[in-house]
Amino acid sequence: MTSPGNSYPAGSAAFPHRGLLGIAGLAPHEILFLLDEAEQWVELNRLPQKRDDRLAGLTIINAFFENSTRTLLSFEIAGKRLGADVVNMAVAQSSVKKGETLIDTAMTLNAMHADAIVIRHGSSGAVQLIADKVDCPVLNAGDGQHEHPTQALLDALTIRHALNLPRGGAFNGLAVTICGDILHSRVARSNILCLTSLGAEVRVCAPPALMPTGIEAMQVTPFHDFDAALRGADVVMMLRLQQERMQGQFIASPREYRHLYGLTLDRLAKAKPDALVMHPGPMNRGIEIDSNVADLAERSMITRQVEMGVAIRMACLDVLTRRSRGVEGWS
Ligand code: NCD
Repeated sequence: MTSPGNSYPAGSAAFPHRGLLGIAGLAPHEILFLLDEAEQWVELNRLPQKRDDRLAGLTIINAFFENSTRTLLSFEIAGKRLGADVVNMAVAQSSVKKGETLIDTAMTLNAMHADAIVIRHGSSGAVQLIADKVDCPVLNAGDGQHEHPTQALLDALTIRHALNLPRGGAFNGLAVTICGDILHSRVARSNILCLTSLGAEVRVCAPPALMPTGIEAMQVTPFHDFDAALRGADVVMMLRLQQERMQGQFIASPREYRHLYGLTLDRLAKAKPDALVMHPGPMNRGIEIDSNVADLAERSMITRQVEMGVAIRMACLDVLTRRSRGVEGWS
């Protein structure tokens, strides 16, 4: 792994991938490269004039086949702050509703000469399918239960900022507890891949029905007892129950779920005294997280995560379009 202060390989060797389909397949130093690239955008985004025109003349299409607030908006803001023309495809009014296949939609987007396409889709693997059919870089904004790579990157950047970890450095010695609907969560999957790759200790906690079988193979420790999972944790990441992906009954009742797996102030006290609280949103307050925990000053990172999301997406759009923009060393 690249140690603090080390520089990255020159040009495209720092990030040789055409698109960003998942955290799987990324080397630790490639993840750190994207986090380090995002730092300049964190700074720019805090200025009154948030503009850099390096993507001027480029067209970015956001094709979101599933609902989104944070991810869609932040990809749109990210592209615009870099000077690109950003177009959001309105799926509800599109030919998708007339039965057009995903491949035909992909070919249509491709014919419009987009310079990058950002896709969210309800089916795992759908983003890869589109990426195989188009000429430009594709960024996965969440595909089914599979991956949500920019969420994991923004979460890692949030942790690094909040704990003042060095740039280019690993996350060794950090204990992160992820609790909630692990089974249906692409956020959990991408975060597990990202955090373990950076050297953190990851614990996952869920009721038995919401814990994927064989999760140990992802180098995590599974828990069903939330109090035990919290002991000594530096970071507590809460996840929503993804009812829209559940067929049948996975939990006894919301009341019981909150009792066993909800993050209350009392329960948070089992973690390290300054443990950070994270949630990718959307939150179901009073179920997986209490309002007085979600709104904790200093320790709740929930709005900071949103802030880091714009910076990470700017970094990804910049890096992935360097080849087509003919940036030196990226041809
Ligand atoms: C998540 C998603 O869509 O996967 N949200 C997000 O991108 N911020 C998590 C969720 O929907 O629960």
